[in-house]
Formats: sequence, C-alpha cells, structure tokens
Amino acid sequence: MNTLNSFGITDTTFRDAHQSLLATRLEMKDMEPIAAQMDQVGFASMEVWGGATFDATTRYLAEDPWERLRQFKKLITKTPLSMLLRGQSLVGYKAYADDVVDAFVERSATNGIDIFRVFDALNDEWNLIRAAEAVKNNGKHLQMAICYSVTESGKMGGPIYSLDYYLDRAKIFQEMGADSLCIKDMAGLLSPYDAFELISALKEVVTVPIQLHTHYTSGMASMTVLKAIEAGVDVVDACLAPLALRTSQPAVEPLVVTLRGTENDPKLDLDTLINLGDYLESILPKYREYLETPKVSVIDTKILSHQIPGGMASNLISQLREADSLDRLNEVLEDIPITRKELGYPPLVTPMSQMIGSQAVSNVLFGRYKMVSNQVKEYLTGMYGRPPSKVANQIKDVVFESFDTAEIKTINERPGNLIEPELKRAEKEVADITSDIDEILIYALYPTTGMKFLRIKHGLDLNADSDRSENHEITATGTKEVPVKSLKTKSFNVFVDDTFYKVEIDPINQNVVSISDGIRNPKPTRDSKPAENSNGELKSPMPGVFLKYLVEADQQVNRGDPIAVLEAMKMENTLPSPKDGRIQSLIVEPGQTVVKGDLLAIII
Ligand code: CO
Repeated sequence: MNTLNSFGITDTTFRDAHQSLLATRLEMKDMEPIAAQMDQVGFASMEVWGGATFDATTRYLAEDPWERLRQFKKLITKTPLSMLLRGQSLVGYKAYADDVVDAFVERSATNGIDIFRVFDALNDEWNLIRAAEAVKNNGKHLQMAICYSVTESGKMGGPIYSLDYYLDRAKIFQEMGADSLCIKDMAGLLSPYDAFELISALKEVVTVPIQLHTHYTSGMASMTVLKAIEAGVDVVDACLAPLALRTSQPAVEPLVVTLRGTENDPKLDLDTLINLGDYLESILPKYREYLETPKVSVIDTKILSHQIPGGMASNLISQLREADSLDRLNEVLEDIPITRKELGYPPLVTPMSQMIGSQAVSNVLFGRYKMVSNQVKEYLTGMYGRPPSKVANQIKDVVFESFDTAEIKTINERPGNLIEPELKRAEKEVADITSDIDEILIYALYPTTGMKFLRIKHGLDLNADSDRSENHEITATGTKEVPVKSLKTKSFNVFVDDTFYKVEIDPINQNVVSISDGIRNPKPTRDSKPAENSNGELKSPMPGVFLKYLVEADQQVNRGDPIAVLEAMKMENTLPSPKDGRIQSLIVEPGQTVVKGDLLAIII
C-alpha cells in the first residue's frame, strides 16, 4: 500500500463527488448497497471520508461519521480507503490543538482509513507537520497534497503560483516523509498543457508517486487528466458518471475506454461501472434539490476569471438566497478576486474559500470590511499560517481598527504551538453524555453542532432544530434509532403594541409550538427609524446559528462593543452593539437557528 505501482484510478464517488454536487448529502443507506461491488472494481483507492463528510453527517444527516467509516471498512476490504484531511484543521474550519490532531488521526486510522491525503489551504508546512507525523506514527500512507492555484491570468506562472512554487512545495513535502504527492486542483483551474508541464517537471525532481485530483468545473478536466497521464502521473481521481462532471470529478467510464489497450490501461470493467452507475441513477432523484444549478450548462466558463471552486459557488448561492440577496451574486463574484488579492492570494480551498467567500458576501451586503469574521481576523494575525504573499498593512489596519480589537498580536511560528491542549476539556464537557473518544472528538471539532448531534444521537434532544432541509426524515444511526422532528419550525418576530414575542410555528400542521415571554420594547417599532442601527435592537444581519452572548443582562455597553457571536456561512461573526446603553434583554438561546432580521438583543 505504500507504493502506488502501475497507473491507477482513485474513485471519489462516496466523498468528493457528492460533496461537490449534492452538498455532501448522500446518505450511507444509499451507498451501502454498492460498496462491496465498488470494492471489486479494482480502483487504486476509494475516497470515502473527510472534508465535509464529517460536518455534513453530524450537522444535517444526524448520521455518525465514525459509524459510516466503520461500515465502509466492513464492506470494502480490498481497496484502500482514503480520506481528505485539512492538516491542523482536520475536518473543521480552524486549527485544532496537537492533542486533537493526534487523537483524530489515530482514531481515523483505527476505524479504517489507509491513505491520508493531507493538505493545507495555504500550502504551509507548519500546518501539515503534526498531522503528517501522526499519519506516519500510525503506519499509514501519507499523501501530501499541494493546492493548485493561479495568480490571476488563469495560467500557471506569475508572481506567486509559478512552476517553481510547485516544485519547491513538492521537494519540501517529500522531505517531510510523504509516501506520495497529490496536485489538488479544487476549481478545475489546471489547464491540460500546464498539467503536462507540471507533472513532467515534478517527475524530474521527486521520486514518490504523483496523483492528480481535479474538478470538471471549467470543462478542462478530461483533457487535463489525459495530458497528466501522458506526462507520467501515477494515479488520477475520477468518479461514477451520474455524480461526475459539473463541479465534480471527471467520469471514470470514458477514461477507462480512452486508456484501453494503452500502457496506462487501468483494466477496469466497463459493464460493472455502468451497472453501478445505473444504481446511482435509481437513488439520486431524491437528492436533486441539492443540485444548486439554475444553469443548463454543465460547465462554468467564468471559472477562469473568478477562480471559485464548485462547493464555494454553491455555498455562495445558497447563502445569498437565504439572505434574500441572490440578485447580488455578480457583485460578490467580482469582489472575490479583489478580497483574495488583498488577503495575500490564498488558494480558494476550505477554509480559505469560506473565509474569502463570506468576506466578499459581507463586503457586498454591509460595505467593505465593515463586518469581518473572527476567522479572517485570526488569519490576519497569522493563526492560519503564512499566506503565499504578504497582506498589506493597510488592510490589517482597516480590519483591526474597525473592530477596535484591544491587542492584536501577530505571530511568526507554527500556529499549533500556541494552541493549548483541547481534548481533556472536551472530554469533561461531554462527560454526562459520553465517554467514547470518537464522540468526544465530534464535540472537540464542532462544539456547537457537534453537541447538538450528540444530544440527538443519545436521545436527549428530540426536538432539536436541525438545519436538515425539508422532506427527509432524520434518524440517528448507531445503537438507537431516534426519530427526530424533521422539519424546521418557522419562527416569527411579533410585536403587539410595544411588546415583542417570538412565535414558533410547526410547519406541518401550522400549530403554534411556542410563544416567548413578552419583552417590552422601549421604542415601539412604528416609531423606529429605518436605520436599525440606532434603535437599540441588535438583529441578526444574516441567517445562521446563534453561538453565544458576550455580555450579560443589565450590563452597560458602548456602541461597537461586541455583544454576540453568530455563525453564518460557517464563519463566526462578532456582532457589535448598535448604541451606547444598557442590555435590556438577550433573546435567543445558544445553538438556535436564526434568520435574517431576528431580534437578538435589546439595548436601552
Ligand atoms: Co476535490
């Protein structure tokens, strides 16, 4: 397993394919029936886990991701299983402590992962070293991925992302002990001739096998893969046709026929692949709602100018739709390259793609850098590692000034060094729910949604408000089957004279589920000026999950003081007080889903 011998194909159907096309919503019960058959195909490996799988299973599907992995391992016994790991950020959106990294890798290895594809959004080895060592310590295959990005022109080259940049990364990663390298082209930006040049040059300077992971997004992927094969790439990623193309991987079937009889013939059986595809066609219609595509075209010809990976584009569309601002998509697309340049040209991959994407959305909706997520602020202090190019001090000043952050320390060392151990604390915090290390890790990775998931799984939270979209029943997997109310309750802010009530309606029978205690509003809404900022009402500026208050009732605050933290677009946003005054009421509960305009606090 530690050498990838003749040319092979990695199948991504069970991970990246549905992550790219269906927001990672494919349920285990729909993959299980063909898992054993997929194992017989002869893929070099199967990517089944990681990336958004862990997040989507716990956040939306109420499915235990560890159980999914163990089940895959049971059904897939010959083909090595691979996962995508975001370096120090594991399967989350921030850097975790070293003890969490060690435990997560160890548990993933024990539960069934053979090949760890480890990457860092900034290609910074500081963020890779701990996870890489953990993989080696567990005796598993360490594949280190280099995120492929382009500077501006859409071609390899330019001041940042030149051929030398990639060769330099490859040499460093090989020295760090990589068993293989992967060029990870999240947005389908790698053009066929650049792929030929890049793979040929890599084969000259490194000895470990090279794998290519690309996306079809721009329409180049099939050609790119073929040129990479001609240049001697060892493995390429592809997936079954029903989940291929668009923003996903190239399809495996035409590749098999293309290579038949050549020296790179992967010798996979076409009929078997077609049968497997037929099965997928039979179960996929119910997921059609997740195909976020208003367009007829299966390729995105604008990708070469806006460089936005598929997952990011579909997130932007759904975020803007929820915020009733889908008409501003073009402005957001225009803002992204500007914001990216200002923030040091990070590759647009998780979590940088979410950070840049949500910043661009905020820039368009609220004004440039008027609202900045805590993650972007941390990025600017160096907590995410070193950006490919320096961020102008001017930008840092704008961001930090507008937030009046007391002390901004910029760091210049491995960010993981600065994070206190987290595992023991997490263990304590969930002690009354579980002592299972896999479950503790779910909480350590996602304190808010992970806790919600664990409560659902253990039958403690039957009415949990899930983000799961409508029309699918949620059941917890594992030992218990806990039916959970599947549809979101709808909530309304109601004012009767000068008293505010929050009313929740059951979407099925339209009954009122709950009415909050009345809160007297000192300024009746009919007298409020349209400028929401001055009337003392702190409202949610966008849909999201309310995380916590940073103040207590009756506390005196100044305009601009941080009041509450909202998770929106997977970013944490600190919401400032709209005025000087006293906190009269704090209205929502941590973990509650809020929509744009929901009242969060009243300051008088
Ligand atoms: Co991908």
